[in-house]
Amino acid sequence: MKTTDVLIIGTGLAGTYVALNLPSNLDITMMCHHSTNSTLAQGGIAISLDQKDSFEAHIDDTLTAGRHTNNIEAVKTLIESAPDQIHTLKKLGVEFDQDAKQNIRATLEGGHSFPRVIHAGGDQTGQSVMSLLDRKINSSDNIQILRGASLLELVVHHQEAIGIVYEMDGTIQVLYAKHIVMATGGLGDLYEHTTNQEGSTGEAIAIAAFAGAKCQDMRYIQFHPTAYKNKDKGYFLITEAMRGVGAYLLDAHKNRFMDHIHPLKELAPRDIVSKAIYDVITSTHEPFVYLDTRHLKTAYLKERFPNIYKTLEKDGLILGVDLIPVTPVAHYTIGGICTDLMGRTNLKHLYACGEVASTGVHGANRLASNSLLECLVFGKNVAEHIVSHHEDLPLPSYSINPLDPWKYTKTTASQNYLVHKAYIQEIMTKHVGIVRYDSQLRLAKSKLTRLLHQLKKVRYDHIDHAKSYNLISVSLMVVEDALAHESLGCHYKDIEKKGL
Ligand code: SIN
Repeated sequence: MKTTDVLIIGTGLAGTYVALNLPSNLDITMMCHHSTNSTLAQGGIAISLDQKDSFEAHIDDTLTAGRHTNNIEAVKTLIESAPDQIHTLKKLGVEFDQDAKQNIRATLEGGHSFPRVIHAGGDQTGQSVMSLLDRKINSSDNIQILRGASLLELVVHHQEAIGIVYEMDGTIQVLYAKHIVMATGGLGDLYEHTTNQEGSTGEAIAIAAFAGAKCQDMRYIQFHPTAYKNKDKGYFLITEAMRGVGAYLLDAHKNRFMDHIHPLKELAPRDIVSKAIYDVITSTHEPFVYLDTRHLKTAYLKERFPNIYKTLEKDGLILGVDLIPVTPVAHYTIGGICTDLMGRTNLKHLYACGEVASTGVHGANRLASNSLLECLVFGKNVAEHIVSHHEDLPLPSYSINPLDPWKYTKTTASQNYLVHKAYIQEIMTKHVGIVRYDSQLRLAKSKLTRLLHQLKKVRYDHIDHAKSYNLISVSLMVVEDALAHESLGCHYKDIEKKGL
């Protein structure tokens, strides 16, 4: 029987931070099957450091962005614990960008009343933090990583998570653990256009739900307002910090339009900006709006946003000179597996943290750059809880048949999964986007349900069937939650325009 003390599923910032906050006498296994979104994070980490700023102001901004439906205790924990976690990151060797006087530089972003987003490597905060933390993980003797492993099932016995079934190198394996941490990220890749890495399909949310974990707020999918369509690749994030340093949004006629929509103009909370761009795109029939940096200095933009500068330059666009076409794309999953402030789910010994978790901290719309902070604060809490409850925990010793009902006899890739995924992405993009209609949501539900029934008719012996099943299931969770709730924050339902 293969066992480990702590199994962490996901190697992004949340999972990595849990691992690094656990003592070295614990045997830790991490697993991942696609690149993490944490490395793509550009803007930075929100923290009130300046004397003129305050925790209260950061809390207020978080609540305003979230439409005051946030879990207030979670918000306080997030913001008040920020300095400790930033201190830890600095001790671990993260170098945040500084000004000439060696003060940490901070930028404004959407919905913030004060410039408080700190960054590293200019616009490569995620990459800078993750490359350092990855090195620490790789040099830790007590941590092993199962790369390319696919989670198939959580093994639960009497409301207690005791292990997982996974596929790796074409074989099905079972691993038992005293503690299991889900840190698997969100579901942006269920949409045709996303800032997320391929493979961010939210599959683990469905797997956790099948095992009995409670989930909530699945309707809140946040669309990032400004993604640039790379000539040769998918969509590339242009950080809100670009608007934070003064970039404007222009419509197809080169007019600023946010002035009429919100007092904070281009720096309104993210859901408001995305919806405004959606409306402009719909009315002008142009597929994008423009990010205008022509009134800002190229040299400054190049120094502040080196990666964005390089990426756009490859496509012949120069910051400070050219207008940048941008459009909103799926970005962040606000809902997920319900947890308390220590990352505990309703299943014993099962934790969740980072984007996959839902503490309620973001309410109906996440404030910009609170997400890396969420990974740090709640990741640390998970580690603390595991440490304080580890002492007397015996290894799970149950004899169960985890392979039932799935038979998983075939583990080679099948074309079907990719076909199903493309169809699901089409449904989600068409019917479950920034603006939703009840009739469209019902249509999405019936298409997804039909696909689910088709899958049920075939033999479930192929892991790709299980994966398709998970993707349909998590999509249905979003659709059903959207149908069941009225508009709020980034779940916006419009009135049907009858007779058009
Ligand atoms: C950005 O840099 O605009 C994205 C950061 C976030 O998702 O909060």
